[in-house]
Amino acid sequence: MSGGRIRFNAFDMSCVVHQSPGLWRHPDDESHRYTDLSYWTDLARTLEDGLFDGIFLADVLGVYDLYGASPDAALRAGAQVPVTDPLPLVAAMATVTEHLGFGLTTGTAFEHPVPFARRASTLDHLTGGRLGWNVVTGYLPSAAQNTQSHGQLDTFEHDARYDHADEYLEVLYSLWEGSWEDDAVRADPLTGIYTDPHKVHPINHHGAHYTVPGVHVSAPSPQRTPVIFQAGASSRGSAFAATHAEAVFVAAPTKETLAAVVDNLTAKLQDAGRSRQDVVIYALLTVITDETDALAQAKATEYRNYVDPEGSLVLMSGWMGVDFAEVGLDAPLTDLGPAASSNAIQSAVAAFQQASGSGGPDGPDGDGNGGWTVRDLAEFGGIGGLGPVVVGSGESVADELEDWVATTGVDGFNLAYAITPGTFRDVIEHVVPVLQERGRYPVEHPTTPTTLRDTLFRRGARVPDNHPAHAARIRHLPRTEGVRS
Ligand SMILES: Cc1cc2nc3c(=O)[nH]c(=O)nc-3n(C[C@H](O)[C@H](O)[C@H](O)COP(=O)(O)O)c2cc1C
Repeated sequence: MSGGRIRFNAFDMSCVVHQSPGLWRHPDDESHRYTDLSYWTDLARTLEDGLFDGIFLADVLGVYDLYGASPDAALRAGAQVPVTDPLPLVAAMATVTEHLGFGLTTGTAFEHPVPFARRASTLDHLTGGRLGWNVVTGYLPSAAQNTQSHGQLDTFEHDARYDHADEYLEVLYSLWEGSWEDDAVRADPLTGIYTDPHKVHPINHHGAHYTVPGVHVSAPSPQRTPVIFQAGASSRGSAFAATHAEAVFVAAPTKETLAAVVDNLTAKLQDAGRSRQDVVIYALLTVITDETDALAQAKATEYRNYVDPEGSLVLMSGWMGVDFAEVGLDAPLTDLGPAASSNAIQSAVAAFQQASGSGGPDGPDGDGNGGWTVRDLAEFGGIGGLGPVVVGSGESVADELEDWVATTGVDGFNLAYAITPGTFRDVIEHVVPVLQERGRYPVEHPTTPTTLRDTLFRRGARVPDNHPAHAARIRHLPRTEGVRS
């Protein structure tokens, strides 16, 4: 395709306020159906028809209680609470689709890797190899506090969370890749042997956090290791992403900050012995579109009437690790202190401070005061969270998306919604045909069902040889099995 393919991924969560606080009150918003299976199956069909790569389901296991040092404001605003488990939704959506990928979020700090290894294998089987796993270490102290038990992770320090996650992944890679040989299941009625015990190997993991001596309990699924998604962008987070991630979600308010995030990740990938082609980078972005620029602008204005600024600051407090109830609305973001002192998403603090620094663009209110204040942040986060909002006709949005791709080096977009499923339907109706005409978006699915890894890389269902999961295979399985190309 000329200029390269632009990829779309849908960003959703099993709750009423994902990235657009207050818009659950909009009459056309259907996020209140998050507890109905039909919401998810309808959405999955829509996205498959729109040739999206996948749907990425965010998740948190705690409440956003940094704001005002209480869960009250989060509960009032419906700010990612109440929230239900994304995992069963994947199985339901798989039954009505053949190509759509699923980016399931679960945290490394909240659950022992062994039961998670089995659940992931189960979903990879049930989806025909369309599972992605968004590896999160968890930025909400409330989640860490509620899930502590003796012997579990006893720290919540930013970089230590990633160190712990490295071992968590080592256990999982060993279970998924290194325990069962491809032909271990014989299902041979003549001999009466279902599984050949010589072809199932204990992983003998003895690490700082986990001891897992035995074998995986599930037979190999189509991809074995689900496609690894990750969103860390701090110094430690991007090193983690560069080691493990096959799809990276990035969020930055401006093209300049996004380009810097992509450059940093590219350098870190090289350090890790991998290359830019080994990962797909999606930038968080929200599109508001209609027949004409004027109609799209009117739609955006109408949506903004529903924004809940306090709900926006509740989410921003959780993401940035700052209690914005304690900081004046007119305080400049540059006053927040160094990003590295945040124990939440350090890259979010850094990105907004960078956007706000001298010579940076004015805050979104265009008040001419140069930098960003907390008020600007509340407004910015009212629709689409940490990512920008692009408004216009299909042509105008396509122009803008092409420019984001050209100037930042991302592969595509992780599209959040203002209202759901309306925002996704609008993109498919107005933007997708323009990108198709320009040769920048696929016009049809492959004729046969695809695994998610194949959708993203077109080189088979399994992790490539330069991925650490492949090394686990080599470590555990007999040589002939381990050196699969
Ligand atoms: C687009 C995007 C989506 C994310 N989704 C989740 C999520 O669903 N659950 C979660 O706990 N963390 C989520 N995170 C946070 C990341 O997993 C990670 O903790 C964070 O980016 C850490 O950033 P840092 O390395 O810059 O500190 C998301 C981050 C981004 C940018």
